[in-house]
Amino acid sequence: MHRGAVAEINLSAIAHNLETVKKIVQNRPIISVVKADAYGHGSVEVSKKLIKEGTSYLAVAFSSEAIQLRDAGITAPIIVLFDSEDITSFFDFNLIPVIHNMNTASAISRIAREKRTSIKVHVKIDTGMGRLGLSGTSLPEDLVKISKMEGIEICGLMSHFSDADLSDRSYALFQLERFHTIKEGIFKSIKGTILTHIANSAAILTFGAAYLDAVRPGLMLYGYSPLQHSALISLMPAMKVKTRILTIRNLPPNLPISYGRTFITRRQSKIGILPVGYADGYSRLLSNSAEVLVKGRRVPVVGRICMDLTMIDLTDTEDVSEGDEVVILGEQGNDAITAYELADKAKTIPYEILTSLGSHSRKQYIDVQTD
Ligand SMILES: Cc1ncc(COP(=O)(O)O)c(C=O)c1O
Repeated sequence: MHRGAVAEINLSAIAHNLETVKKIVQNRPIISVVKADAYGHGSVEVSKKLIKEGTSYLAVAFSSEAIQLRDAGITAPIIVLFDSEDITSFFDFNLIPVIHNMNTASAISRIAREKRTSIKVHVKIDTGMGRLGLSGTSLPEDLVKISKMEGIEICGLMSHFSDADLSDRSYALFQLERFHTIKEGIFKSIKGTILTHIANSAAILTFGAAYLDAVRPGLMLYGYSPLQHSALISLMPAMKVKTRILTIRNLPPNLPISYGRTFITRRQSKIGILPVGYADGYSRLLSNSAEVLVKGRRVPVVGRICMDLTMIDLTDTEDVSEGDEVVILGEQGNDAITAYELADKAKTIPYEILTSLGSHSRKQYIDVQTD
């Protein structure tokens, strides 16, 4: 038996979601964010599909993720958002690094000189996210300095929103205004075209003024909105996570289930054991609160989720047998467990549900259009 659950990834859903983004942003170039193994969906397969469907760029967090895509034969432009260490790989694998500090800029320029070549880069400015990017009073001079460094060609300018998912737009507007001010300053001193981008999924959904030259969606591509209650847009969740019932036990009333005895059977009970636990990305915070789908019906998780096993109460489920399919995320019959639902119960966000479950599960791909 293999460990963990199976994540079924629907590539046509990803194509549909990309199409939805394209329509919203009126065919601006799309930088598809496929970091963290495409939010747990498998970056190679997802990237191939996104390229086929017309994404202009891919974006990853670190060089190693980009190299994995290059090794899989992907030749599309790849932007490396955060890496400042693996600089030779930027050259060796034809990547577009994002420069977010002066040391990295100098190191890139030095290696470009050594290699007698030049490299296209994007520069990140911190407009208020407080994470990465050039900032402070030296920012305008720093940008000019980078633009004059030998071997470096600035072809993009970017920033990232801190809270574009809030209905209160004031901070996002402040960040956008800052971005424009800095951009206008730099455009005076840099020749050539510069692609500006700042919009993540939340901004794509609600903040047209932030579309700029290109947009950078992540979560939307995988079928979820960061604004949980914006049901206006038709997105299709691409990940379904399923397992099978390992064993079914008939247990008497008053029997404690799992560590800590947090659930005690109240009646003669039929308890199903699932071969999936928190080591497979099914958070222990879902103990005694999540539901799964069996035979198209909701069934509660009972007792604490263990490292490798989870217990469900099948007492009210008829015709259920060992080996039957159990859906822990996604649709079965007429019902669905969404990443929003699991995120609420685990006190987190859909991003973490997808990356945790996806990265620990064996993947199967379906593609309705090409199968
Ligand atoms: C720099 C950057 N751009 C874009 C994105 C995509 O954001 P989202 O998944 O909310 O669309 C992320 C995600 O974390 C990011 O870090």
